[in-house]
Amino acid sequence: MTGHADVPVRGARLRVGVLASGRGSNLQAILDATRAPGYPAQVVIVVCDRERAPALERARAAGVEALFLNPKDFADRPAYDAALVKALTARRVELMCHAGWMRILSPVYIDAFAGRALNIHPSLLPSFPGLRAQRQALEHGVKVAGATVHFSDEGMDTGPIVAQASVPVLEDDTEDTLAARILVEEHRMFPEVIRLFAEGRLTIEGRCVRVKR
Ligand code: GAR
Repeated sequence: MTGHADVPVRGARLRVGVLASGRGSNLQAILDATRAPGYPAQVVIVVCDRERAPALERARAAGVEALFLNPKDFADRPAYDAALVKALTARRVELMCHAGWMRILSPVYIDAFAGRALNIHPSLLPSFPGLRAQRQALEHGVKVAGATVHFSDEGMDTGPIVAQASVPVLEDDTEDTLAARILVEEHRMFPEVIRLFAEGRLTIEGRCVRVKR
């Protein structure tokens, strides 16, 4: 993959789009971060594939455009993704963030945002991709779990890893208690990675990401 991640530091704030399917707590963490003086990015649109996703309400409450794109309105996945790309391109989105987006993305979207789309996943990838990562971690009896932010590629929860954070797995953990512990790290990490991208400090080299400190 060739990286588009070398975005130079500019006066204008990076235009970020967010894809979210549900609760939107990561979206909220990003929205909160963008309010800090000097933060180099702004959220210009939030797209949801579920009409009742609380993420839509969080976007509106922050004064950000909220777009519900209904999968039922499209013949197939490429048609949906083409509409998605069209909407994002029209808003001049420079970086996409997948914050709890639970829909598989086709090459139509992935190619349009190659090197410019970040995903967050609640495991230490490449362990436990896919659904219910925290439950997978408990079922495997791991002692350390965590979260990963990575550039998206055509796979599910694959692509060059930018940042990871670990948390302990405790003897009496349930899926919910572990998820809550991981989520604290997600909320800290995702806005930090967006900042690094916006400041042009991420370079994709094959499967690896170099971070300029
Ligand atoms: C988060 O834990 C995120 O890492 C996960 O969904 C949750 C969304 O929560 N994403 C995935 O599992 C992607 N494979 P949120 O809607 O409150 O941000």
